[in-house]
This record gives sequence, C-alpha cells and structure tokens, in this order.
Amino acid sequence: MIISASTDYREAARRRLPPFLFHYIDGGAYAEHTLRRNVSDLSDVELRQRVLKNMSDLSINTQLWDDKLSMPVVLAPVGLSGMYARRGEVQAARAAAEKGISYTMSTVSVCPIEEVTPEIDRPMWFQLYVLKDRGFMKNVLDRAVAAGVKTLVFTVDMPVPGARYRDAHSGMSGPNAELRRYWQSVTHPRWAFDVGLNGKPHDLGNVSKYLGKPTGLADYIGWLGANFDQSISWKDLEWIREFWKGPMIIKGILDPDDAKDAVTFGADGIVVSNHGGRQLDGVLSSARALPAIADAVKGDIKILADSGIRSGLDVVRMLALGADAVMIGRAFVYALATAGEEGVLNLLNLFEKEMRVAMTLTGAKSISDISSDLLVKAMRQL
Ligand code: FNR
Repeated sequence: MIISASTDYREAARRRLPPFLFHYIDGGAYAEHTLRRNVSDLSDVELRQRVLKNMSDLSINTQLWDDKLSMPVVLAPVGLSGMYARRGEVQAARAAAEKGISYTMSTVSVCPIEEVTPEIDRPMWFQLYVLKDRGFMKNVLDRAVAAGVKTLVFTVDMPVPGARYRDAHSGMSGPNAELRRYWQSVTHPRWAFDVGLNGKPHDLGNVSKYLGKPTGLADYIGWLGANFDQSISWKDLEWIREFWKGPMIIKGILDPDDAKDAVTFGADGIVVSNHGGRQLDGVLSSARALPAIADAVKGDIKILADSGIRSGLDVVRMLALGADAVMIGRAFVYALATAGEEGVLNLLNLFEKEMRVAMTLTGAKSISDISSDLLVKAMRQL
C-alpha cells in the first residue's frame, strides 16, 4: 500500500461520497491496468540521495509562459467537480489561487466559467474537448477570453469515451441507475445535505449557458456522448490556433511522434497523459512514456505530465523523468470531496513540503536543477 496524504483523502472521500461518484473519480478503463501502473511505475522511480550540499536556500517556484507558479503543479481539468463538493470548481480554483498555482477548468464543469473567474485573483486555465458542435466550442472560447483566460488546454485523447466498467456497476450508468443514485445519495447524508441539496444547480454550467436551458447528469452522458468527434485531426485544430492568442497546450500525448507533431503544429505545450488511465487500458503509464518524449522535444515545447501523481515526491520524480511541470487530478479531487477548499489547500501545502524534502535530499536547489541526473542510472530510461 502506498501511503500519502492523497491516500488518506481517498479513503475519506470514499466514506463521504455516494458510491457512484467515488467510483467515477477513482476508476479507470477496462481492467484498470494502466491506472494502477501510473501509480506503481512512478513509485518505482529511484532517486539518487545526495548529502552535504548546503540546501538552505531552496526554491521551488517556476514560470509557465506568463504564469508565475509557487511550485510546478497545476490542477488538472476534472469534469463534474461541483458534484464532489458544493460548487466544487469555485472551491478548487480558490485553493489553487491561494497557493499561487493555476487551476484548469474542465469543459464539463458544474459551475460555468463566469461563476469561477471573479472568485480568484489570477487567470484560470480552460480545457476544451474536440466536439462535433463547433458552435459550442466557439461560444465557450469567446466566453473564456472574456473572462480573462489566457491558457487553453486542448484535450485530444477522447475522440471516443473510454469504457469504464465501474460506472455500470456503481450506478453512474447501467440498469436502474437513477434509482440507485437516489438511494446512494440519501444514505450519504453529509454529501446529500452539502452538495445534493445546497450545491445546486447541478448543471453542466458551460453547456447550459450555450444551450440556454438547464442540463444535468443525463445530458453529461447524452450530449457529450453524441458530441465526441472521431474525425478529428491536426488540421481541425488550426482554426483554434489562429483564434487563440495565448498559450495552447495539447493534453493527452503519449508517443514521441505525436509530441513532434505538436511542435510542428505550433503548440506551446503538451501534457503527457493517458487521462489518468481512463481511456485505453494497456497503454503506457505516463512515467514510462515521458523519458522518450522528453528526448524527442524537450526545449522545443513545454512538457507537462500527469497520471499517477499522488505526492510532492512524485512531482520531483516526474520532473526528473523530463517534465517541466505536472498536473494533478485525483489527488486534489479526493481532498476536494473530503474537505473542500481547505482540503485542497492542505493537500497542496503537503505537496510543497514533500517536494522540499525530496529536493533537499537529492541536492536539487531549484526546479531547473531537477533533471535525469537525479535518477539512479538504471532508471534513466524507465
Ligand atoms: C478527469 N480528466 C479529465 N481531463 C480532461 O481533459 N477533461 C475532463 O473533463 C476530465 N475529467 C476528469 C474527471 C475525473 C473524475 C478524473 C479523475 C479525471 C483527466 C485529468 O485531467 C487528468 O488527466 C488525470 O486525472 C490525471 O491522472 P491522476 O492524477 O488522476 O492519476
């Protein structure tokens, strides 16, 4: 068993949330091999311990384009966050802003863009899926610009939804889903009161604003399912590249050739990611995919990585494997579900402490000191 603050928050979230929501967060595709390997491959990364290097003036801040980050961590886009905590997107964004890092809002958030941005004193990042309804894409991008968003995260590893069998078992989908969700909600009264009753509207805020009518979980499955676009190619992204003036990041890269294509396309960054093991089971863990991608494009484009990061030590490991910064998904969502804004802030503070310990004991005084030199030699190419 891997012990970290996020493990504790995971167990607390399991107790608090109705099972259909806990398993929606916690689960992955098919038999969840990639989901498990994301965590286990990362924890297998061995670092060189270095001593007596006067580590008193350690700094962990960094910069991605115009965004100054107090540490190289960004909150990943996580759909339906407002179902895990009351107005969850607002709470997560506030915790990130308080910590001095960026929050990425998902296309399929409960709170709309306009509800979150006035609550924070730094620009939010926004994530967009490639959807058949280009009218929606244009509408939501215009609104993001109007709300001061500078950085766009374009998620490309979801031309089809991954098959997540846990959802059918848990009541998220499958037979009698609505009845089962209702029963699970009333038997989890802390969640039912805090989020179920007082966290309304449970809309897909960004979609509702566009469609001009309320939406809900059925629309999440229905509207989104009908809107995945399998015909998408790099060419379809060109209009966005022309339209979007700020940094554009391609999320969901797992292969060095795709990373090179992202450079050719003119992207500003990539996120090495398998969507937290939620798409194709059996693909490489991010920790295994990252070194070859860094060999191919490091320096040409900013490299972010996610999938499997559960602690500040894992952040240092991902950076040693070649990332410039990381995104965290489940780790912050478990904390959000357990204790809202305060939980996320506490988790981020623990991440910082863990990063400082790891850097002190590997002799890395700044983020730019973290490189493959920190890896035990046999680990340099996982
Ligand atoms: C996600 N992820 C995701 N990604 C995205 O681009 N848009 C989205 O709406 C969502 N929604 C979402 C919901 C939930 C419940 C999870 C757990 C994940 C993927 C997310 O951004 C990120 O890539 C992974 O969560 C990273 O893996 P870890 O940190 O969760 O292991």
